[in-house]
Amino acid sequence: MEKIWTEKYRPDRLSDVYGQQRVIERLQAYVEKGTLPHLLFAGPAGTGKTTSAIALSKEMYGDQWSAAFFELNASDERGIDVIRNKIKEYARTTAISQRGFKIIFMDEADSLTSEAQAALRRTMEKYSNNCRFILSCNYSSKIIDPIQSRCAVFRFRHINDEDVRKWIEHIADEEDLEISEDAMQMLVRLSEGDLRRATNLLQISASTTTRITAEIVRRSANIARPKDVEELIVSAMKEEFMVVRNKLDNLLIENGLSGGDIIKQIHKSIYNVPMDNWKRMKLVEKIGEAEYRMVQGSNERIQLESLLAHFALEAKRQ
Ligand SMILES: Nc1ncnc2c1ncn2[C@@H]1O[C@H](COP(=O)(O)OP(=O)(O)O)[C@@H](O)[C@H]1O
Ligand SMILES: [Mg+2]
Repeated sequence: MEKIWTEKYRPDRLSDVYGQQRVIERLQAYVEKGTLPHLLFAGPAGTGKTTSAIALSKEMYGDQWSAAFFELNASDERGIDVIRNKIKEYARTTAISQRGFKIIFMDEADSLTSEAQAALRRTMEKYSNNCRFILSCNYSSKIIDPIQSRCAVFRFRHINDEDVRKWIEHIADEEDLEISEDAMQMLVRLSEGDLRRATNLLQISASTTTRITAEIVRRSANIARPKDVEELIVSAMKEEFMVVRNKLDNLLIENGLSGGDIIKQIHKSIYNVPMDNWKRMKLVEKIGEAEYRMVQGSNERIQLESLLAHFALEAKRQ
């Protein structure tokens, strides 16, 4: 399967992040000085929070960045103690970087309860001699004051239509796509300021042709249904089998999607569902196998259920 475009086109440099100029200028100033306080990135999905955290690390550490950058998801269902242990291990075992501190990026920090956030704050304090935290959230109001007051707060905005258009044009250029004006308007409108959505929609639209029309975009928007598929994955991982069956019926029967559509979307969505990368890698392998069998003509429904059972099994494995 082709590499997903949200990864292929994730900007490596801060200067290549679209539509967040004020945020980016402040982040670049840290790179110049070589220092960093704890940061809080707040804003809607698909606006560059994770991208900016990674780009910042790449610029601060160059080739060494991946050793100095540790990504965690706060909505890890095993709870705050598991998160704290991972932080502890990383803070202790990984060699100190050339800057004297390493970066811990925690996504979805606003999914933690206030008690868990209080525990997180103590952990931040404990390791602040050699770690800087970048917390990412949708709403800063859901972050407790003691954390907010220890962080420099950065607000990410929805990407405005003009910049969404530029982003789409940038990818279209790289991929040699021809996009009609009404298709472009539809892509911009459906993206709603979310560049992840813009990118996914464009990739699906371009999966069968390089000449993108409004009709193709409309059809692709129907296929995408990323939220439904993400919910499917999450339910599978929680072992809610009846919910999984119902959701699957819904997609297959009521929305008229093919097994192939769904499996392609599972492949995209798996990068949006929190889980550790090792599990994700194993599941991507399973997705590949299921897709292969489907193409060979095996029963789609059975392949999908079997794949989702693997999600449940992986979720259980420690
Ligand atoms: N401001 C942006 N500039 C360029 N690309 C972006 C931007 N925001 C999102 N994207 C695209 O969407 C994908 C997901 O963005 P990400 O930074 O993970 O969003 P989030 O704000 O949800 O963390 C990126 O890989 C990139 O392709
Ligand atoms: Mg993110």
